[in-house]
Amino acid sequence: TRTAAVVPAAGRGVRLGPGAPKALRALGGTPMLIHAIRAMAASRGVSLVVVVAPPDGAAEVKSLLDAHALPERTDFLVVPGGESRQESVALGLQALPPEYGIVLVHDAARPLVPVDTVDAVIDAVREGAPAVVPALPLADTVKEVRPARVPGEPEPVVATPERARLRAVQTPQGFDRETLLRAHGTVTENVTDDASMVEQLGLTVVVVPGHEEAFKVTRPLDLVLAEAVLARRRL
Ligand code: C5P
Repeated sequence: TRTAAVVPAAGRGVRLGPGAPKALRALGGTPMLIHAIRAMAASRGVSLVVVVAPPDGAAEVKSLLDAHALPERTDFLVVPGGESRQESVALGLQALPPEYGIVLVHDAARPLVPVDTVDAVIDAVREGAPAVVPALPLADTVKEVRPARVPGEPEPVVATPERARLRAVQTPQGFDRETLLRAHGTVTENVTDDASMVEQLGLTVVVVPGHEEAFKVTRPLDLVLAEAVLARRRL
């Protein structure tokens, strides 16, 4: 069966500061989205990349794809996204031709994921897992808080989950197509990743090793790190 990658890139990127939509900002002179698309197309297993553009930016994204060198063996589609990440992924899934039995969902905001991580996710789905996430152990201890009742008031800690059992989850997340479609058709509340929708169906999601360089570019400091990683790769 064939593998397609859906790349949601319709977010505004508010936490990164003012400017263009996050996916269109440059890293090493090339838009973050182009890096993310190349990272998917770098895997020989991926034969289609569906890019979910900002709702009013599909034409701009199409011309970006035309302007940058991309592998010839990969097909590309661009569709307009929605209000939430979840809606954007669902719109990308609707555009998938029937022959793709495995679907990766990869945030444009993780432009530097290495191809070995992409391949590990695909392999685990091929071996039969309905849903696969790349993940890393945490450096920080994580606490659950009760949100402040009055803004500015200190938040009380309610729990400290055992750090050794926690994982920070990255993308691409990989799915058996039917499973992901069913998850999107069933779960209606907002979630922050696709795998959690599959968990809600009662199915097992498995973890493969993530990679440091698959970090999400969210805040201005992340751009500094991303530029440094790119510069090191170019040495
Ligand atoms: O906001 P966050 O960093 O969680 O976004 C993750 C990914 O989801 C980003 O690549 C972003 O462009 C995408 N997104 C989207 N449509 C939205 C919101 C976010 O495609 N409405």
